Amino acid sequence: MKTIGDSKIIEIPKVHDERGSLAVIEKEVVPFAIKRVYYLYDVPSDSYRGGHAHKEQESVIIALSGSFEVIIDDGKSRKRIMLNKPTQGLYIPTNIWREIDNFSSGAVCLVLASTTYNEDEYIREYKTFKNQSMG
Ligand code: TYD
Repeated sequence: MKTIGDSKIIEIPKVHDERGSLAVIEKEVVPFAIKRVYYLYDVPSDSYRGGHAHKEQESVIIALSGSFEVIIDDGKSRKRIMLNKPTQGLYIPTNIWREIDNFSSGAVCLVLASTTYNEDEYIREYKTFKNQSMG
């Protein structure tokens, strides 16, 4: 079973000069083949997103703009991580519960996903997730 210790911050290479910064995600940077990219924007600051785990999907979450906090939970331990740099991605393996809150104004949350969208691989009930993670 995966634990929150299998989650990690990925550093995204960047090129910076007086014209600004450019960050590049090539396939070596992400520990899976990207099948889908989606992003959250226009998020009210009191919004709560996520609240699910995935049976199949691995993800990398990036604060492209602004900041927010991601809670990761493996059923035994829970950790809160602030993302506020467009050059840092939070890798989340399968079977880890995640919640996202404390969005700053103008925050953009980019998600790189290893699967196409399939509601059947979501676990949306914390109780179901918790029972499953206990084996
Ligand atoms: P939801 O899973 O609630 O978003 P979050 O995890 O950010 O809180 O998804 C919101 C809606 O969008 C829900 O009806 C499912 C739909 N959706 C898609 O159609 N395709 C996708 O790739 C995703 C991530 C969500």
